[in-house]
Amino acid sequence: MRVPDEVRADIPLTSKVVYFDNAATSLTPRHVVEAVTRYYMEYRGNVHRGVHSLSEEASRAFSEARENVADFINASSEEVIFVANTTEALNRVALGMAFHAGDIVVSTELEHHSNFLPFFRLQDRDVTLKIMEASPPGILEEEELGKIEGAHLVTCSIISNAVGTVLPVQKIGAVARKEGALFCVDAAQAAGHVPLDVEKLGCDFLAFSGHKGPMGPTGIGVLFMRKSVQDQMDPCFLGGGAVRDVSLTGYDLADAPYGFEPGTPNIAGAIGLGAAVEYIQEIGFSEIQRQEALLTRLTLDGLSEIPEVTWYGSQEMETHAGVVSFTMEGMNPHDVASILDTQGIMVRSGHHCALPIMKKLHVPGTVRASYHCYNTAQEVEQMVDVVKEIARTLAG
Ligand code: ALA
Repeated sequence: MRVPDEVRADIPLTSKVVYFDNAATSLTPRHVVEAVTRYYMEYRGNVHRGVHSLSEEASRAFSEARENVADFINASSEEVIFVANTTEALNRVALGMAFHAGDIVVSTELEHHSNFLPFFRLQDRDVTLKIMEASPPGILEEEELGKIEGAHLVTCSIISNAVGTVLPVQKIGAVARKEGALFCVDAAQAAGHVPLDVEKLGCDFLAFSGHKGPMGPTGIGVLFMRKSVQDQMDPCFLGGGAVRDVSLTGYDLADAPYGFEPGTPNIAGAIGLGAAVEYIQEIGFSEIQRQEALLTRLTLDGLSEIPEVTWYGSQEMETHAGVVSFTMEGMNPHDVASILDTQGIMVRSGHHCALPIMKKLHVPGTVRASYHCYNTAQEVEQMVDVVKEIARTLAG
């Protein structure tokens, strides 16, 4: 097990800045950088395409990375498809499913644009998108789950990237299954922060990126696709490596995951992600969740003392993840973020690619501090002090 101080020691950047933009991308531990570097320096070759030793070694490392990721989400390795990021994964679900006119997809108002737009666009094929609406300050009331009735696909995130609310994903999944709908989970903000188990979630699809919670490289992500639905899915893209046989009159698609991964994949990224999820498991989720809950509580308590601040998302600690979104009276969120930046504190500001929930909250955007286990209580106090100073001198 590694404690937060050891994780900090593994990430040189943590001593240079207060990094609170983990929901956009986390920092990278040496272990991950070294795994990627080893591939480039010691055994760079293409995968599943040659019999020479470098290709064999690269293929072995690539397959091991897939095993690590499968273990990380309790799936089998044939169900793990490497993609570029969560956005690609969710687009592949929308484009790959055999929808018919009149089908219904249900999502929530708390989603990132990536779990909204790919399904919104299906309206061109006469598929109806129904939205379970959020209530201020950014929560999903249980009665909204009634909208799942008649759905063919239900898609929702585990944690809102915009306001940090933890959605009742188990309940949503249970209703989806009762309705006979397929269930897709956007785990972009959950992966690396909470344990993921596709069996417990009962999902048919699960999407996440390597560069956020898992602390892996950018440009690598995962689409879990349950074995039982793979035959119904169009691969969306075709090309080298994805076929068993090709003639001038047709082709025979390779089994998953290869049939869904045409072209040379992001080999270095996948190897880095494999190392990253191994590292996360070494820290352990109880340690990660303990530290992030502490930081979240400190932030919410600190911000609650500042009358000029409004914070959003679930008001219950148990359903508020380590993503804290707030506004300050009379202040543009970007100005607040810029002032924090002058003090070496990195937060994101704006609409966080989640305009529907911003509109529901009647704000153009928010300031967002998002944590990982390497952040400290002292850093949170530092941020709250700067926000207090802004309130004293500028806000209102
Ligand atoms: N989706 C990322 C975020 O929430 C980029 O910041």
